[in-house]
Amino acid sequence: MTIKPREYLGTPLFEGAVKLLLLGSGELGKEIAIEATRMGVEVIAVDRYENAPAMQVAHKSYTVNMLDGAALKAIVHREKPDVIVPEIEAINTDALVELEEEGFFVIPNAKAVKATMDRVLLRKLAAEEAGVPTSRYEFAENLDELKDACEKVGYPCIVKAQMSSGGLGSSLVFSLNEVPKAFEEARTKARGFGGRMIVEGVIEFDLEVTELAVAHLGDDGKMKISFPKPVGHVRSGSHYHVSWQPFLDLDEQAGMTKSPVEGYGSQRHLAEDPPRGKLLWSSKWNGKYVPKEVVEEAERKIYDVAGKVVSRLLGDRGGLGLFGCEIFVKLGEDNGKPEVYFNEISPRPHDTGMVTMITQDLSEMALHVRAVLGLPIPEIRLRSIGAAHVILSHKDGKWAPRYGGVWEALSMPGVHVRLFGKPVTYFERRMGLALATASSITEAREKALKAAHLLESKIQY
Ligand SMILES: Nc1ncnc2c1ncn2[C@@H]1O[C@H](COP(=O)(O)OP(=O)(O)OP(=O)(O)O)[C@@H](O)[C@H]1O
Ligand SMILES: [Mg+2]
Repeated sequence: MTIKPREYLGTPLFEGAVKLLLLGSGELGKEIAIEATRMGVEVIAVDRYENAPAMQVAHKSYTVNMLDGAALKAIVHREKPDVIVPEIEAINTDALVELEEEGFFVIPNAKAVKATMDRVLLRKLAAEEAGVPTSRYEFAENLDELKDACEKVGYPCIVKAQMSSGGLGSSLVFSLNEVPKAFEEARTKARGFGGRMIVEGVIEFDLEVTELAVAHLGDDGKMKISFPKPVGHVRSGSHYHVSWQPFLDLDEQAGMTKSPVEGYGSQRHLAEDPPRGKLLWSSKWNGKYVPKEVVEEAERKIYDVAGKVVSRLLGDRGGLGLFGCEIFVKLGEDNGKPEVYFNEISPRPHDTGMVTMITQDLSEMALHVRAVLGLPIPEIRLRSIGAAHVILSHKDGKWAPRYGGVWEALSMPGVHVRLFGKPVTYFERRMGLALATASSITEAREKALKAAHLLESKIQY
């Protein structure tokens, strides 16, 4: 695939328009659409329901089931987009492969979209081909193999289906007699199952980070990878709740972080995202400040892991776009060396990366749009420390909710609110986001939490 630097943009809805087809029209898609329309790009948004967030800001939309390959192809053949940008996983990837063979440009490339959805392929690619550290793992195809795999990995371990997301079909297993239940869970609850399973050893990390590595054209017109500051987050379940950037706020003069670690199992973590079950561990670094050298080394290792996996995924075919590379960070005992482990990667902006809407000069969606259009990214600047906290609905099936508390939330200096405009609620659906800038991570997380909980408590159903 040869991708040339883009010299011209066009006028939407007219001859010569540059067209971006968005497959998936959620909140990330909405921001992608906004960033693209800012540059006069024509945006066509697709999703399975009407009035999805990105449809509200796109030039045109289609409501179809994106697992239906024929429907996807019919839209692409009619619209002839310059770029096809997948925003979700539930897309017929075989249709994407065929469209790419016909000459359409799928972001980042159709093979990479397929590989990132497949836990078996992805783990082999990361651990065996790219050689980056991961949790211990074994694969299994049936119950007997799964029992052997769990015994080999040791307990507790996590069983995950080959194809799934959002935690569906994954279970934590503590002993051999729990394996059949985990097998059934993976087989029946996973989004796509895929026929195989992976068993992973549990990594008792201190923090999770997302590295939003972006593959784009460099000065010489060749593909290069740039690395924004890692985004930190903690979660107790499989859904995104709170994130912040940078992942540790280094105070150069003091030679250590400005904020203490409030990672997995910290009081702040528990207040932000109360765990559903028992927490398996709590970070030994909670409440401690991290020395400069450790922050720098962790950062180097994060970029190294993300860079290796992205390069391997793109392979010789090349490709463009931003990736959300999920990484576990374990800070050593005392002042020891940090260790980082690859978890998984999405070939698109990541929900935890929405914090970049206030922390960076170019948000993760703005970076994605620049990259996929073949435009340059000469630098990525962190403008401020910031945090983001989700605003969830707590009722099911309520249409057109109204959001109270906006006056009070927006009266807090540095607080911004994003309401996604989703037409209907369901239990724990992400309806919006409270964002906050501050001079330390602790303060930013505090403000984002306060604003989000205030707005959440005042949703009128
Ligand atoms: N090996 C592991 N050790 C410790 N924690 C893990 C491990 N694997 C997963 N987790 C925890 O479970 C979360 C979800 O796991 P994973 O990213 O594999 O699943 P997912 O279904 O793709 O979730 P999502 O779509 O929300 O990213 C991780 O972010 C992490 O908190
Ligand atoms: Mg994940």
